[in-house]
Amino acid sequence: MSLLVKDFYNFLKTIAPLHIAEPQDNNGLQIGSLFNQVSGVLLTVDVSKEVISYALNKGLNLIISHHPFIYKPLTNITPDEYKGSLIYSLIKQDLNVISWHTPLDKISDGVSEAFIKALNLKGSDFIFKEKNENFGLGRVVYLKKSIKLQDLVKKISDLTNSWVMVVGDLETEIDSFGFCGGSGAFLKEELKKLKINTLITSDVKYHNAQEAYEEGFNFIIIDHGVSESFVLPFLKEKLQEFLKIHNTKIPVEIFKNKSPYKIFTFKKEG
Ligand SMILES: [Fe+2]
Repeated sequence: MSLLVKDFYNFLKTIAPLHIAEPQDNNGLQIGSLFNQVSGVLLTVDVSKEVISYALNKGLNLIISHHPFIYKPLTNITPDEYKGSLIYSLIKQDLNVISWHTPLDKISDGVSEAFIKALNLKGSDFIFKEKNENFGLGRVVYLKKSIKLQDLVKKISDLTNSWVMVVGDLETEIDSFGFCGGSGAFLKEELKKLKINTLITSDVKYHNAQEAYEEGFNFIIIDHGVSESFVLPFLKEKLQEFLKIHNTKIPVEIFKNKSPYKIFTFKKEG
């Protein structure tokens, strides 16, 4: 049986409903047509030049991205600028793009829980829960045995195979922490209410880091895209179940996200 873009769109609604999206968010079909037939699916955090050529080479005509491909209103679409060149290339090559953003952040087994599971741990609740609803932001983890902050940093470095920055004393013992995929520094105050003093997240600004340092609050800072990429295997698994039900054999692949940053440290001798 052949499936249309619309079938994948409806399927994603069952995984992470659109009504829980943040008001300024942009989810759903961004490029293409709901009535195009799907030859294969590429799951990715972002849509980039590399992602488009990968999809083309592999014959995958539906790209499902976590970050909205179109977020800010466009004032023009021209191949002479970065975004416009991507839009031109997608349309010319008849590719389809669906983005599914904050609904995937907010479901209980979404972006944050996927990372925690990959650490072989389990989240106990959201850091910030919306009233009377079973969705929210970030996850809280209570450890069975306390560990040094540096051991958690080591685990994260091994898992992500990417850079890690730390604010805090690496020798501190911790028995709980919060995790929020993407830019979650604003959840520090919520965690403090829960008497938790460690947060793993991305994009922590200098002033937030400086304040945390003074307060004895620990930040483990990782790459934004990498922190969210752990939701892609979860989506792949769900998509494969969906394809099986529909007796459809098309490839579903994950684009391996790489951090755009390289971090150098230079130590003076002596
Ligand atoms: Fe993000």
